[in-house]
This record gives sequence, structure tokens and C-alpha cells, in this order.
Amino acid sequence: MRAAYDEIADWYETEFLPSTRPGDPLGIRRAITEHLGPGSGRCLEIACGTGVHAAQVRELGWTPFGADLSAGMLGHAAGRLPIVRADASRLPYADASFDAAITVVAHTDMPAYPAVLREARRVLRPGGRFVHIGVHPAFCGGFADRADPAAVVIRPGYLDGHWTKNSWTSHGVRDKVGASHWPLPELLNAFLAAGLVFEGFSEGGAPVPTILSIRTSAASRQCPSAPASGPR
Ligand SMILES: C[S@@+](CC[C@H](N)C(=O)[O-])C[C@H]1O[C@@H](n2cnc3c(N)ncnc32)[C@H](O)[C@@H]1O
Repeated sequence: MRAAYDEIADWYETEFLPSTRPGDPLGIRRAITEHLGPGSGRCLEIACGTGVHAAQVRELGWTPFGADLSAGMLGHAAGRLPIVRADASRLPYADASFDAAITVVAHTDMPAYPAVLREARRVLRPGGRFVHIGVHPAFCGGFADRADPAAVVIRPGYLDGHWTKNSWTSHGVRDKVGASHWPLPELLNAFLAAGLVFEGFSEGGAPVPTILSIRTSAASRQCPSAPASGPR
């Protein structure tokens, strides 16, 4: 099976990433530092792509691992971090086998993102940190025309979660592989349903944010409906 990103992996690595990185205009490096932060132990990047964030994760003290669906993207990631080719909604890892997990600009590529969040929670040890860094649901999508960065135009479409290739630019990812969209409450509710506990938020990109970052931790595995323990 060929993954959508197989077709654009070389373009993503050699043209797209270099055009988005100098000066960290979207605040992605800043968000990784702020929300993942320094630590130690195993950190899984879900949908790691070409492994572009592995060096920063390592600099913060973590041992990075990566999972992605696209063999083409992983071809660039090999050598940057240990990788597996896998669907993020069925990760090939044991329960509680990671101390932290991140996903960066990838939730819109995964129509089954609520299932991915459940998998993130499953592979994290209780209390382990999960950091979502994703395109901003309010200001990015097929409904948002960002041709003029100072005056982003929001057209009807935000309220309808959908997948589209519509894009204001022909130099981005959405026009090539398409992207899903979740209105903000739907996205946040999926974290709650997965048992992820909100710990912090930030936005990146100016003057109209492009990135919304969400820091969470994995709730303990105790079933909320289990009878209370103790003397009867
Ligand atoms: C925009 S790229 C982001 C890659 C990397 N995180 C980065 O910041 O450059 C989105 C990635 O999601 C991956 N992806 C899409 N659907 C996936 C799935 N179901 N499971 C795992 N990875 C998936 C794609 O192959 C692609 O590498």
C-alpha cells in the first residue's frame, strides 16, 4: 500500500521543510521546548515524517522514537531516530511503554485522530506527557484564505468537519494530499474522551496564529466507573 505522503516525501524534505523552518516562524520549535520540555526516557513521535524534530527531542534529554505510515517519509527519518512503519491508530507498542509522546502538524493528516489519541494514551505510562502541535483549527483549513497574512479570510466551512484539498496556496501540503478538519470543541472533546488531561495551551505564528499546541498527560488507568476500594 502506498501512503499519501510517499508521493511528496522528497519534496517535503528538500523544499517544504527548509521553506518553513528558518527563524521558527510558526513557533513549532518553541512549542516543543515549552510543552515537551526537558526530560528523560522514551518519547514517541506519532507521525514523525522525516524525523525533523528528533534532534530537538534528543537535545531536551529524551530518547526519540518515531512511527509513521509513509515509507517515503521514513526513508528520510532513518538515521535520525529509531522508526517503525505503522498506522497511528494501531501502534505496535505495548501499553505504557513510553514516558512521553508528541505529534507535530499531523492531526489533520489522520482522519481517525480520536483513535490516535486513544492509542497515545494507551502507549503512555500513567502521568506520561502527550503534546499535540497542530495546525490551528480556527484559522487554518479549506475555509481559511491566508494569502494575505495580515487579513486572513474565514469563509463558511469551519463548522463542518471535513476533508478537503481546497487551499489558498499551491505551495502547501493540503493542496497535494488533502487534510481533515475538526472544529475546536470536537478536537478538544476527543482528548477528553481518550483520557488525556489538559495541562497547557499555546499558539504560534503571527499576526494570525497558524499553530495550536496542547499539552496533556495520560490519566491513570483506573476505570472511573470501578467501585471505590476500601473497607465495606
Ligand atoms: C505534515 S507531515 C508531518 C511530519 C512531521 N511530524 C513534521 O513535523 O514534519 C504528516 C505525517 O503524518 C503521516 N501520517 C498520515 N496518516 C498517518 C497514520 N494514519 N499513521 C501514521 N502516520 C500518518 C504522514 O505519512 C506524514 O509523514
